Amino acid sequence: MRRKRENKPILPAGAVAGNFYCLLLHKEEAKQNMRLTQNEKIYFSECVSDLMDSDQVRRMNRFIQHADVSCLDHCISVARTSLWLSRLLRISVDRRSMIRGALLHDFFLYDWHEKSDRKGLHGFTHPRTALENAQREFVLNDREKDIILRHMWPLTPVPPRYREGFIVSFSDKYCSVLETLRFYKSGRTLD
Ligand SMILES: [Fe+2]
Ligand SMILES: [Fe+2]
Repeated sequence: MRRKRENKPILPAGAVAGNFYCLLLHKEEAKQNMRLTQNEKIYFSECVSDLMDSDQVRRMNRFIQHADVSCLDHCISVARTSLWLSRLLRISVDRRSMIRGALLHDFFLYDWHEKSDRKGLHGFTHPRTALENAQREFVLNDREKDIILRHMWPLTPVPPRYREGFIVSFSDKYCSVLETLRFYKSGRTLD
């Protein structure tokens, strides 16, 4: 018996690129499209509630990541964008691990703009620092660890092992560009 062809999503990459283009043009409808549903917002809050209760995680608010956006707001934006993107692309993921890994992906807890005696370049070393900090605070599963450690790919050569890691890595770049261009303002992303 011939297998029925599955309905594949139509041009997801085009949809993402189109949305990105609209965002650059400050199109309100594109921002509307990126909003999470009420159920997704509730699920998101449940997934991160213990992380957000941590004083160490909240310390990320003290450090600027891009433009006027703090590390904490950046991580929240990346986690929300990852959830939105996985829905848009209809990719089956472990949503909880993806959200939690994304929220901790830049948990390095220092101002990377300031000179210091840290060894190595921030871009290459901060994923491991973030992972070590996260493991001191929380018990992480393999997906969450991999998301944090590999999120700078392809700057760092080893790619993520799981699809959740690719989504977070892409969302990180997506949010970073928009924050640097000051399209995303602190604490406002995808609200
Ligand atoms: Fe990072
Ligand atoms: Fe990041």
